[in-house]
Amino acid sequence: MGGVDLIPVPHAVRADAGEGRFALGDAVRLEVGPGAERAARWVRGVLGAATGVEFGAGGGGVLALGVEEGLGPEAYRLTVTPQRVELAGGDGAGVFWGAQTLRQLLGPAAFRRAPLPGGGGWSVPVCEIEDRPRFGWRGFLLDVARHFMPKDGVLRHLDLMAAHKLNVLHLHLTDDQGWRMEVKRFPRLTEVGAWRERTLVGLAPSQVWDERPHGGFYTQDDLREIVAYAAERYITVVPEIDVPGHSQAAIAAYPELGNTDVVDTAALGVLDRWGVNPNVLAPTEAVLRFYEGVFGEVLDVFPSTFVHVGGDECPKEQWRESATAQARIAELGAGDEDGLQSAFVRHFDRWLAERGRRLIGWDEILEGGLAEGAAVSSWQGYAGGIAAARAGHDVVMCPQTQVYLDWRQAGGPDEPAPIAHVRTLEDVYRFEPVPAELTEEEAARVIGTQANVWTEVLDSPRAVDYAVYPRLSAFAEVAWSRLPAPEERDWAGFEARMRTHYARLDALGVEYRPPSGPRPWQRRPGVVGRPKDGPPPIV
Ligand code: ACM
Repeated sequence: MGGVDLIPVPHAVRADAGEGRFALGDAVRLEVGPGAERAARWVRGVLGAATGVEFGAGGGGVLALGVEEGLGPEAYRLTVTPQRVELAGGDGAGVFWGAQTLRQLLGPAAFRRAPLPGGGGWSVPVCEIEDRPRFGWRGFLLDVARHFMPKDGVLRHLDLMAAHKLNVLHLHLTDDQGWRMEVKRFPRLTEVGAWRERTLVGLAPSQVWDERPHGGFYTQDDLREIVAYAAERYITVVPEIDVPGHSQAAIAAYPELGNTDVVDTAALGVLDRWGVNPNVLAPTEAVLRFYEGVFGEVLDVFPSTFVHVGGDECPKEQWRESATAQARIAELGAGDEDGLQSAFVRHFDRWLAERGRRLIGWDEILEGGLAEGAAVSSWQGYAGGIAAARAGHDVVMCPQTQVYLDWRQAGGPDEPAPIAHVRTLEDVYRFEPVPAELTEEEAARVIGTQANVWTEVLDSPRAVDYAVYPRLSAFAEVAWSRLPAPEERDWAGFEARMRTHYARLDALGVEYRPPSGPRPWQRRPGVVGRPKDGPPPIV
């Protein structure tokens, strides 16, 4: 079965299952068992479009999709003989992930959206594959707040995620620089908050603005479409509304949300530069009511159990200076400003729990005490995740030092987004989500892992492609496959499989970073970057 080069690598592949190939053509009958309907729609629609194969009445073999209980969640077994492909999933998701493997077996041309003239001759080698994921949360964060990604681009990223067996899209929908979700109760959030006058090019100390308005937002119907498109691919969309920091776009729209007794919030616009920003929400009852209204609409649109409330990088200066905030600390017995933030998060922890949902937030929500049911996205290294897991909370490991995909992927002047420390493809391949110091019981609290792409300097879908790929391909293998310890991983073998995978990414139209470095048009001379705060990468 040489030359198949599956990514992520399956749990077990039996290549000695026999000789020959299964030919996929119009005479192949598609058999669909209960629970496999979604995967069958994808096979007919996407594989059908790529190959031109119209699954017919039979006589030329069978492609059988079905659920076989006992295989386990998201697991599948793919058995190929010259006459028959048998794809059994432990559930519908397992069938779907098996169909992704089948596409890789068909070859890179199966990743196009239409066959090439004279194409055809589709076949897969005889083999037997057993596969199951290491983690239930295999996430990718797309920051659509700093630079808006039009709906079509989000749908495309869902297709790319599905091809890599990733199953959580964390959509960072709000930030200082933009509010991207239509909220019917509060139309100014998008009328005002979705647009900024201009944008700083690169990071500070850049003094260059592009002098060009930027913005955009998703209507609730757009988001419902994104959610449904994701669900067809067994991907959950986890929405993030970032509070109480990262909120200047909301404050620009509704100045009463800010700390009006210490700043003239009516003078604030949507932020046009980058960095941690002091203009945070006022910790009042009125603001809680406002955000209950926002989250109410979020729950209407997003069926995800987890709802992300942000909680990161909330400077406390304004609360220290604000008589209103200080009175609130006294009234709640919160102790200090960290306690006040904790009370804010606890409020939404309870509020979401009452509605059958669960809160997840960045690891700063540990400061001042973690809300009862909260899960933690551990971004400031591993420490927050370790503390949360030890306290019995669920954790998604996404340490910036390892899997922030906006960080530069090589040294040297050609790197178009010169952010932070170098994280190469190999670094990401050697990322280990579960820290060795956790006991087995604590480690079970690490429900998954996630790679995050922040878009301060990634101002177009093409720039995002460059930052994300091929590193997300390596991340997908870390999240799905049970790899050995980082230093024992077969990097050379992965690199060799990547040669085939680049051809798949080419067929998909992904403008990844080639192994030889950026293509001439991918270079962005003049973009200023600087190391982000935080420790250097763990190597
Ligand atoms: C973050 O990177 N501020 C979550």
